[in-house]
This record gives sequence, structure tokens and C-alpha cells, in this order.
Amino acid sequence: MNDTAPQTAGGKVLWHFTMSLDGFVAGPNHEMDLMTGVSFRPGLVEEYVETTGAVLGGRDGWDHAAGDSRPYGGAWDGPIFVLTHHPEDATPADGVTFLNCGPAEAVRIGLAAAGGMNLEVFSPTIGRQLLEQGLIDEIDLHIAPILLGAGIRLYDNSGREPIHLHRVGEGDPTSAVNVRYRPAATAKTGAMR
Ligand SMILES: NC(=O)c1ccc[n+]([C@@H]2O[C@H](COP(=O)([O-])OP(=O)(O)OC[C@H]3O[C@@H](n4cnc5c(N)ncnc54)[C@H](OP(=O)(O)O)[C@@H]3O)[C@@H](O)[C@H]2O)c1
Repeated sequence: MNDTAPQTAGGKVLWHFTMSLDGFVAGPNHEMDLMTGVSFRPGLVEEYVETTGAVLGGRDGWDHAAGDSRPYGGAWDGPIFVLTHHPEDATPADGVTFLNCGPAEAVRIGLAAAGGMNLEVFSPTIGRQLLEQGLIDEIDLHIAPILLGAGIRLYDNSGREPIHLHRVGEGDPTSAVNVRYRPAATAKTGAMR
């Protein structure tokens, strides 16, 4: 199966998500059901745990994360920066710095803390702002085999110009990626259509 090469550390700004086939990174009310039952390629989590030096997120994602929830199920330990216009009412947490600054300044701070490893941006809204400023190096997506129909989109920017991308890897960078699915209820019959 075609797949991405393992991620490498290099002081990059990564917009990194597991995403539903229809482009949502969370369901309504920040539900994360899209992750349930998904199998990832062996070593995928370790790949990001080893190459990530810092994480930048938004206040909504942070506030909706359960309790002391940490990236990669706690397997990763490093500085987390949360962007908010009102850090004064945020609940302090170990290793978490609440920032009230522009997204470019947040990236500068995050990259400095990452010490040559990558800065992972775990926020659709901040990622969109960084894209507009040319500050996203790579978009790393794991497409979960699910259609959500509603929720928080990876990229919500209606009315703006499309952003053209180049696929990272071998071959034509403008090529489409082909995927094929069938509804799970019929997949177990193995029926050909
Ligand atoms: N599928 C995955 O792999 C994955 C991974 C990580 C996260 N997620 C999900 O992604 C969702 C993130 O939610 P979201 O995108 O709606 O919200 P978000 O980006 O987490 O938070 C938005 C908030 O961030 C703050 N913010 C954004 N830009 C700012 C700026 N320039 N200056 C100051 N503050 C700024 C604002 O907070 P204030 O209102 O406080 O000012 C804004 O309301 C969550 O549901 C999370 O669980 C999914």
C-alpha cells in the first residue's frame, strides 16, 4: 500500500491530524469518536513521539480535552503552548504555557522550545492562520475510515481562495491520492461491486 515515509525531526511546523474521510478532525462538541477502532500503521505513534519537540494548540481543544489528557496518550512529554485571548482564566497545568500573542509569535516560541525537533500544531483554527502567513511546513494527515457528516473541519475558510498543495513523496507532487472504501456493514461480506 502506498504510504507516507516516516516523519523526521527537523524544526518543522507540522499541521498534524487524524481526519475523517469527509474532512473533520473532531465531531460536534469536540467528540473524538473518529479515532475509535482505527488501526494505525505500526510505529506511527512512536514516530511522532520521537520527532516532536513542542505542541501548539488552541484554547477550545485544550478546554475540551479530558482532564490531564496529553498528546499521544501521554507517551510524549514536552512543552505545550495554548493560544488564547484570555490566559488569565485558564487552569494552570504542568508543562502548559498559555500564550496571548499572534500565531507567528506562537510559532517562534514553539520552535525555540522544540529545540530542533518539530512543532506540531493541533488546532484547525491556528493552522488556518499559519497557512495564510506561509508558516506551515507540512500537513500530516491520517485518514480514518469514517464519515462524520458534521463537526470541526480541518480547514474551514469559506469564501477564500483555495490553497494549492504539493503531495510530499515520490512522483508527481500534483497527483491525486486514490483511496477506495466500502461501508463496513457490507465490507464483511466481501461482496464485489
Ligand atoms: N483529530 C485529531 O488528530 C486532533 C488532534 C488535536 C486536536 N483535535 C481537535 O481539534 C479541535 C480544536 O478545536 P478548534 O479548532 O475549534 O479550536 P482551537 O483551535 O483548539 O481553539 C480555538 C481558540 O484558540 C484561541 N485562538 C485561536 N487563534 C488565536 C489567536 N490568533 N490568538 C489568540 N487566541 C487564539 C481562541 O481562544 P480564546 O477564545 O480563548 O481566545 C480560539 O477561540 C478539538 O476538538 C480537538 O480535540 C483533533
